[in-house]
Amino acid sequence: MARPDPHSVTDDAQPTTRHFEWDAAVDFASKRLTATVTLHFKEATKSPTPLDLDARALEVSEVSDLSGAALKWEALPVDAILGTPLRVHVPEGATGVRISYRTGPDASALQWLEPSQTHGGKQPYLFSQCQAIHARSVLPCQDTPARRVSYRASLSVPAGLVAVMAAAPVRSESKDGRTTFHFEMPQVIPPYLLAFAVGDLASKDLSPRSRVWCEPGLLASAAWEFEGVERHLAAAEALFGPYDWERFDLLVMPPSFPYGGMENPRLTFLTPTLLAGDRSMVNVVAHELAHSWTGNLVTNINAEHFWLNEGFTVFAERRILEALEGHEMAEMHAALGRNDLDESVARFEKAGTPELTKLRTKLAGIDPDEAFSVVPYEKGYLLLRALETAAGRANFDALLKSWLGKHRFGAVNTDDFIAHCEKTAPGLLAKVNALKWIDEPGIPADAPRAKSARLDSVKALTGTLPDAAAVSTWTAIEWQLFLEWSPRTLAADQLAALDARFHFSTAKNTEVHVAWLLLALQCGSDAVLPQVDAFLGRVGRMKYLKPLFTALHGRPSTAARAKELFAKNGARLHPIARQVIAGLLAK
Ligand code: BES
Ligand code: ZN
Repeated sequence: MARPDPHSVTDDAQPTTRHFEWDAAVDFASKRLTATVTLHFKEATKSPTPLDLDARALEVSEVSDLSGAALKWEALPVDAILGTPLRVHVPEGATGVRISYRTGPDASALQWLEPSQTHGGKQPYLFSQCQAIHARSVLPCQDTPARRVSYRASLSVPAGLVAVMAAAPVRSESKDGRTTFHFEMPQVIPPYLLAFAVGDLASKDLSPRSRVWCEPGLLASAAWEFEGVERHLAAAEALFGPYDWERFDLLVMPPSFPYGGMENPRLTFLTPTLLAGDRSMVNVVAHELAHSWTGNLVTNINAEHFWLNEGFTVFAERRILEALEGHEMAEMHAALGRNDLDESVARFEKAGTPELTKLRTKLAGIDPDEAFSVVPYEKGYLLLRALETAAGRANFDALLKSWLGKHRFGAVNTDDFIAHCEKTAPGLLAKVNALKWIDEPGIPADAPRAKSARLDSVKALTGTLPDAAAVSTWTAIEWQLFLEWSPRTLAADQLAALDARFHFSTAKNTEVHVAWLLLALQCGSDAVLPQVDAFLGRVGRMKYLKPLFTALHGRPSTAARAKELFAKNGARLHPIARQVIAGLLAK
């Protein structure tokens, strides 16, 4: 027995799933999917064998082989992180298994929204979030990036609702008050990229290969915000090679979506907080698009090598940004990233878990949602920047392209990257002391530093009340840096004067608004508490929830308020966010 992934029961000695068919009916009343999945093996079994599948809270009714003959199966012991795996006893010569089941009402991947939680307020909404290990709460599968699968799917939904998937739509038909939408995903994907949404959805074309989906009332502003998507695609293709997924559609989610964006193939999911009205947050689109190469095409084999996914993607995101908006803009984002990184590293050190600041981690027994941090993103980015500087850009671009070419539609670990570097650029890793980055905690003292005149101008005014004229050219990113760099010692009247002059309380850019709320909370001000309450009642993006709840929870005067707010709003959060915030408040 050998398990390639500490977060999956997938076993190398057992059959490999290569394709599946999934047919699911969506029932909003019971908050369940009733479904059948047929898993097809890469090759027929040569002898009778157990097949261990990841599953969480699935209620299985029937398991058979492909001819319909019943197979023996049992649920394996429940594990708080892994779920309740399913063991199917597969006979010799089998090419697949079929499983009928329904999902649990609290499936960790799924959020079932009441009409009141949507923009239109009239129809319910359902969406999935399978990364890191939640696909198993939607269907029994080998839920590890070490096993890629293609699939066909159908989703039956109440008439009047639209189903979309991160796959190619094939057709739909209506009958007896239901509509069934059919999809096909011809490219092999890791299971965490399975994704769908059901709701009152409409779309608008942005380019021949991209359209934006969202609730009808948001369509005009979404189409405006993301109008430049084809330029992103063109810049990315120039850097990383042809786009392999045919379409790059966008889905603007309800506000409870727990991430900024999720790189579901062919259909990136985005938080509606990106709709700032000034395109100031489109770097998130660049990031999710970059995953089409780094992550979706070349995937980390398990969560212990997550930096190969997110670190590479942040690097690629900033290269796209540099191509479209210039070097300074990319450097500004790098500076924001460095600020987050330093905070995160300090937090891990304080918590006594500095090993989670290594790029290569050990995560057996650790929930990937709990281990999640900016470290793989920003420390990974810095290592790649250091390598790029040491190799020279042209050489490093070539190294990256050959890495992507060699492992496309594959799964990689850190040793694969080390071997690739040694082969294509002997001595390069040693030049930057890469093993220290990879296997030691913290940030090396010689890490690259962001440089730009725009950064200097922000730095010079940080901690002051600038004249409006001195900052007339500042954009959202300057303001975000200004607020994040501000000393946590500003007095109430200084905060009030800043807000009176620059209106952070009503900033349309959510990053700026949250940076303001955090600054005020961390300076001990209570003036923003009503704004914090309102924000936490509205938005479910974990990047904002975590620091805001941490700040409230950490101040004796507001610790009880944090718990009250969670009691009030917790039920409206996605199950992943609910669990993460509950864990944070229990500390
Ligand atoms: N794939 C991630 C989101 C994710 C990571 C979901 C781990 C579940 C587990 C996505 O690409 C991402 O990184 N989103 C960022 C956006 C950003 C760095 C621009 C986010 O949501 O903040
Ligand atoms: Zn990402």
